[in-house]
Amino acid sequence: MANIKFYSGEEVPLEMHKVRIVQKLNLPPIERRLKALDEAGNNTFLLKNSDIYLDMLTDSGVNAMSDKQLASMMEADDSYAGSTTFTKLENKIRDLFGTEYFLPVHQGRAAENVLARVFVRPGSVVPMNYHFTTSKAHIVVNGGAVEELITDEGLAVTSANPFKGDMDIAKLEACIARHGAENIAFVRIETGTNLIGGQPHSLENMRQVRKVCDRHGVMLVLDASLLADNLYFIKTREDACKGMSVREITRQIADLAHIIYFSARKLGCARGGGICTKSHDYFMKMRELVTLYEGFLTYGGMSVREMEAITVGLEETMDEDMISQGPQFIKFMVDELHRKGVPVITPPGGLGCHLDALRFISHVPQTEYPAGALASALFLVSGVRGMERGSVSEQRDDEGNEVYSNMELLRLAVPRRVFTLSQLKYAVDRIVWLYENRDLIGGLRFVEEPKMLRFFFGKLVPTSDWQQKLLAKFRADLGDSL
Ligand code: F0G
Repeated sequence: MANIKFYSGEEVPLEMHKVRIVQKLNLPPIERRLKALDEAGNNTFLLKNSDIYLDMLTDSGVNAMSDKQLASMMEADDSYAGSTTFTKLENKIRDLFGTEYFLPVHQGRAAENVLARVFVRPGSVVPMNYHFTTSKAHIVVNGGAVEELITDEGLAVTSANPFKGDMDIAKLEACIARHGAENIAFVRIETGTNLIGGQPHSLENMRQVRKVCDRHGVMLVLDASLLADNLYFIKTREDACKGMSVREITRQIADLAHIIYFSARKLGCARGGGICTKSHDYFMKMRELVTLYEGFLTYGGMSVREMEAITVGLEETMDEDMISQGPQFIKFMVDELHRKGVPVITPPGGLGCHLDALRFISHVPQTEYPAGALASALFLVSGVRGMERGSVSEQRDDEGNEVYSNMELLRLAVPRRVFTLSQLKYAVDRIVWLYENRDLIGGLRFVEEPKMLRFFFGKLVPTSDWQQKLLAKFRADLGDSL
């Protein structure tokens, strides 16, 4: 967010850090990429990193760490109980969130497991702005149901609305009236909504949600995994917050939640997670499950080195330069693609750039998984690995019918401080080529379909020889280029 203007007038997301450790990358030729896709059942989760040029699968656990984070890992205090490292992390969380109690867990979904086991009963409902795959799975496994109360605008693929992650307050009131407050396990706000394109919610919306929760005596839970991006958007897009520091915004958000949980594979740029609360009662309810599933209360399945790195990473999240890097790089990518007519989610959000497969390949029906097909096609022509965020990521209903997702997206995550601008330009170049040749892309069908979380392990095959045709066109247009 440093105020640096280019004399040329060009808008360039200028890095406020330098790179001091590098990792060599490999870009195998397109013929090998086709073979790799076949071996992986056209599921990008099953590709091997050695076959990948730009890994845009996720920002989870793969953000670049700072020199200070790496240095902190050298002085970690390894002990099963009472580790000084844990106390540092607990104190940092108290300092930033104002929460007295902290329960460590090994990653975000472990927090979801504990929360769902403690608060969700058969028949419970969890209203939320939007679901995330693992959060919904834990609620459903415990007999609960999820209701998504995102504003209608949130599902509009292209929009100028700065806060498409907001919860619809009228829908929340209606949901509580319909089910009765006693059947609401908790209300969940996902900051920086993942599955609808990393779209933020406003601080004002969260205030209104909390008011409704208070009126009905319902608990408000914040999933803060993508908090860093959301902080940047509140700071830059919400007029009432422009004069506030990132630290102040963080505290105001935290004060509105009864329980905060997060994946530290995202928030804090390390690996781990935690649950934070001011309530001794909630803490006591969850404590046993942490020792049962995660580890003792002073590590919760995390290595002490990672806990040191999280402590530093959380403090660094209060730095505007640090939290602006991801959203600014994503904006660069979204703006370039949008300018060239490629259908992308707008406005640019956090997490990554999201291609709208329903418009990109409108000739591929949802029965043939357009987002999965686009993920496969993009890897083939570029070595860029994205993540299907469409119907493959859904689950069949109890009768075995497909549940088609509201959006069919190919998510191209932009891990923080990892890629250079020229690498993003390469990705944009190949996406534009693919868009111009989109008629060649066909669909996919399952040959192996697990019941739970099928997107992780499922295998698919193309419905025709479209991949061979795409390869031939690539060779015709780009010659012997990798
Ligand atoms: N909540 C949100 C909003 C997430 O984005 C994630 C993970 C989790 C919870 C679960 O955390 O992975 O540490 O267990 N998102 C990753 C992603 C997997 O690729 O978007 P976890």
